[in-house]
Amino acid sequence: MTDQIVVVGAGGFGREVLDVVEAVNCSSGTKSWEVVGVLDDAPDDINMGRLASRGVRYLGGTSADVRLPAGCHYVVGIGNPRVRELVASRLNQAGLRPATLVHPTATIGVGTQVGAGTVICAGVRVTTNVRVGSHVHLNLNCTVGHDSTVDDFVSINPLASVSGDCAIESGVLIGVAGVVLNGIRVGKNATVGGAACVVKDVAAGVTVKGVPAR
Ligand SMILES: CC(C)(COP(=O)(O)OP(=O)(O)OC[C@H]1O[C@@H](n2cnc3c(N)ncnc32)[C@H](O)[C@@H]1OP(=O)(O)O)[C@@H](O)C(=O)NCCC(=O)NCCS
Repeated sequence: MTDQIVVVGAGGFGREVLDVVEAVNCSSGTKSWEVVGVLDDAPDDINMGRLASRGVRYLGGTSADVRLPAGCHYVVGIGNPRVRELVASRLNQAGLRPATLVHPTATIGVGTQVGAGTVICAGVRVTTNVRVGSHVHLNLNCTVGHDSTVDDFVSINPLASVSGDCAIESGVLIGVAGVVLNGIRVGKNATVGGAACVVKDVAAGVTVKGVPAR
């Protein structure tokens, strides 16, 4: 069965999400998703050109009166957790349904749950008994270890590594190649800098960077 989907975001990650959709379609034998088009509140000309060159329609902004097929799914390809939460809330109210996308080269362990609206990119490794919330981005080649929780609207950027038994609270962004050592809690809306090594709990809303991260 083929379902319809819109992707929010014409920028870099939005178009990487389109790649995930294509990979899912190629791997499943039957076409799982028909891409209706892309929504974006402020696309620039360069990204509009990039969408056009891959044959994907620009549909308008997320608050505009865009006519979408009944029962259409969506996924938000915007890296900023706060913006993603706003857009998801708007589209839920408009009656769209969040899709979950898992690239066929990602691996997910036994007993792991993945929420609606979450995108898992190529090469991601999520091991066993992990709880991944809704509208989470697990970007290229990141890892999440056993028994961790990754709450809603978290972004884990490429190559980042969350060890076992961690608690990554909602809205957290872990920068590219950031490391969170085992058993650590990263508080709501905190940011971990690229290439940081987090060795102790991080309070909500705080930005830490460096090795060890402070
Ligand atoms: C940590 C981070 C959030 C800080 O952002 P910011 O507050 O805008 O920081 P600034 O760029 O103003 O830099 C402030 C200082 O922190 C330093 N700094 C910035 N990022 C750093 C990092 N990841 N590690 C160590 N130091 C860093 C800067 O060199 C600067 O130092 P200075 O004051 O001595 O000159 C950001 O740099 C980061 O690492 N974001 C992750 C980006 C990412 O994952 N990109 C991939 C997308 S797929």
